[in-house]
Amino acid sequence: MRHALVTGATGFIGHHLVQRLIAQGTAVKCLVRSQARAVDLSQLDVTLVQGDLADVNSLAEAVKDVDVVYHLAGLTKSVGKGDLMKVNGDGTRNLSLACSQRSRPPILLFVSSLAAAGPSPGVEPRVETDEINPVSSYGRSKRAGELAVIDSADEVPATIVRPPIVIGEHDRDGFQWFKTIRKLGVHLAPGFEDVHYSMIHADDLAKALILAAEQGERVSRDDQDDGGIYYAASDEVMTYSELGHLIGGCFGRSRTRVVRLPMLMIWGAALSSDLWARLRKRPTILNVDKAREAAAGAWTCSAAKLRRHTGFVPSTSIEERIRQTADWYIDENWL
Ligand SMILES: NC(=O)c1ccc[n+]([C@@H]2O[C@H](COP(=O)([O-])OP(=O)(O)OC[C@H]3O[C@@H](n4cnc5c(N)ncnc54)[C@H](OP(=O)(O)O)[C@@H]3O)[C@@H](O)[C@H]2O)c1
Repeated sequence: MRHALVTGATGFIGHHLVQRLIAQGTAVKCLVRSQARAVDLSQLDVTLVQGDLADVNSLAEAVKDVDVVYHLAGLTKSVGKGDLMKVNGDGTRNLSLACSQRSRPPILLFVSSLAAAGPSPGVEPRVETDEINPVSSYGRSKRAGELAVIDSADEVPATIVRPPIVIGEHDRDGFQWFKTIRKLGVHLAPGFEDVHYSMIHADDLAKALILAAEQGERVSRDDQDDGGIYYAASDEVMTYSELGHLIGGCFGRSRTRVVRLPMLMIWGAALSSDLWARLRKRPTILNVDKAREAAAGAWTCSAAKLRRHTGFVPSTSIEERIRQTADWYIDENWL
C-alpha cells in the first residue's frame, strides 16, 4: 500500500485529491493547521497531523513514513504580498528541507500554478519550454516555491504541476461567477478584449497529480531545464463570455448578459478592495495582484507533455464539469 501526505487537504483542490487517493487505496495523512478546519476530513479514513509550513519540526514529523508528499498548501490571495512569499516560497522550501532530511526522501509533488510561468506568450497555449514571466506577486511566490523544489532536486525526487484556473465543487472563488449569473443573469468580464483561458476541474487535476507523481519525470537542479514540470489543463480553452454563457445555460438562462468593465474601473475597484481587506485583515478575491493578471492577456497552457508522459486525459468535457459544479452548488444549498 502507498502512503501519502497531503498538505492543503482542507482546501478546495485538497478535498478532491484526498477523495481520489482514498478511492485508489492509498493510506492518506493530512497536514492540518487547525482541527476546526479539518472537521470534514475527520469523517474520512485519513490520519490528521497538526502542523504549519512555517513550523519546520511539524513538517519533519509529517513527512515520516510516506512515499509521496502532495504539496498543495498555499495562499492564492493575501492581504500583503509578504505573506504570499512566506507561505508559497519559504513554506515550500521548509517542506523540501524536511523531505531531504529523510534517509530515503519521498517523492515531492508540488502544485504550482500557471501564474508561476505567466500569461500565454503568443496565440498558442503556453508549453513547458516557454520562457518564464510571472506578472503578479502570487505568480512570483509560486515560482519561488518551484525554485525551492528545484534546489533540493539532488536529494528529493520532485515533480512540479502547474494548473490554470481550477473549477469544481467546494470552490468558493469560482462560486462568485455562478452566484452572480444565477441571481442577476449578469457575468462581469474584465476589459474589452475577449481573451482565452485554460481551465481544469479539480477532480481531473487530482487525477493528473497522481499520474505525475507515479509516472512523471523528476526535476533537475538546472532551473532552465523543463524536465519534471507539467501543465495540467483540459483541452478546451474559453473566453470569459463563453464561460458566462455556459454557466447561465446550467440555470436555464438562454442569454447571460456579459458586462465588460474597463480595466481602469477594475484597477479602481481592486485598490478599494485591497484597502478594505487591509482594514478587515482578510484577503479578498478582487485585489490589485489579480487585476495585474487580468490585464496580462490570455492565460492558456497545453497538457500535451503530461499526456505523452503519463497518459493523462480529463474524464469529461469542461462544459459537463461546469454543469456538474452548478448542480453541486444547488444541491448543497450554496445557491
Ligand atoms: N484554485 C485554483 O484555481 C488554483 C489554480 C492554480 C494553482 N492553485 C494552487 O493549488 C493549491 C491549492 O489551492 P486551493 O484553491 O485548494 O486553495 P485553498 O482552498 O485556499 O486551500 C489552501 C490550503 O492551504 C492550507 N494552508 C495555507 N497556509 C498554510 C500554512 N502556512 N501551513 C499549512 N497549510 C496552509 C490551507 O489550510 P487552512 O484550511 O488551515 O487555511 C488550505 O488547506 C495552492 O497551492 C494554489 O496555489 C490553485
